[in-house]
Amino acid sequence: MNACIRAVVRSAFSNGLEVTGIESGFEGMIAGNMRVLSSQSVSNIIQRGGTILKSARSAEFMTSSGRIKAAEQLAKHGIDALIAIGGDGTFSGLLQFQDEFGIPSIGIPGTIDNDLAGTDFTIGFDSAVNTAVEAIDKIRDTADSHNRLFFIEVMGRDTGFIALYAGIAGGVEAILLPESTTSIDDLIAALDRGKQKGKTSSIVVISEGDDAGDAVQIAQAVKKKYDHYDTRTVVLGHLQRGGSPSARDRVLAQQLGVAAVELLLQGANKHMVGVINGQVASAPLDTIVGTKKGIHPHLMNQPEIYIS
Ligand code: F6P
Repeated sequence: MNACIRAVVRSAFSNGLEVTGIESGFEGMIAGNMRVLSSQSVSNIIQRGGTILKSARSAEFMTSSGRIKAAEQLAKHGIDALIAIGGDGTFSGLLQFQDEFGIPSIGIPGTIDNDLAGTDFTIGFDSAVNTAVEAIDKIRDTADSHNRLFFIEVMGRDTGFIALYAGIAGGVEAILLPESTTSIDDLIAALDRGKQKGKTSSIVVISEGDDAGDAVQIAQAVKKKYDHYDTRTVVLGHLQRGGSPSARDRVLAQQLGVAAVELLLQGANKHMVGVINGQVASAPLDTIVGTKKGIHPHLMNQPEIYIS
């Protein structure tokens, strides 16, 4: 997010615009917590995780009185357009606010889950996957040395993008996604096939939203029927949401930040910027909100990986 804030500020500045940073999203909009961001104020942040503007969920913004307060604060601070970085929840709030108060608004996709339509990748996804892969590599050392079966849970409440990409890149034996029904028996059969071929350890990556349960529950269900390994479970959790962003994420953040400012200058409104097949694109926000992006089908069939 910091790389994107920086890109928006620098791009706006070079177009003669002034940027005000709103702290803690819609919460700060209601409270009037905002400050002018100079070009200098965003130096030395491109490599930092998190967001210098902070982030919050806002229950008050879901109320009409909250949104009226937010509109009053924007008028008071002379703000005449909005750029919001976030996911589905951020964009649905932005759309409603735009409908009620008419302020030109552009969304930039920022979520580690990569679950937004209208873009191949969201800001944060690549960094989260790299963190997960690094963890898988390290866990494999124990799995291999001690002949163990590991269950590693990654983030992705509703979508399995992180699990799919991290699992493939980590060379794991099985990947469980929320998008399809998990069969414990099929998983066991796949693990057993590996064992018959001489594997002495295995790793299963589980997306936290999997229909068969969380990693602990799935590990227990497997162990009950298939006791051929010493098993361990690791939940990676918020490790995946922090740390220095990958180069790929920084470049995406730059592209999308610049594109958002350009769109506003062209008079666009209620659109989200994205990257599709390497090209910057944009789509109406109301086609993005509530639309679930399908897991990349070309990655679903991999030899010797059980993906379900
Ligand atoms: O950003 C989305 C997400 O990373 C989900 O994958 C995860 O379930 C959730 O956030 C965690 O949210 P919180 O930080 O509120 O626990």
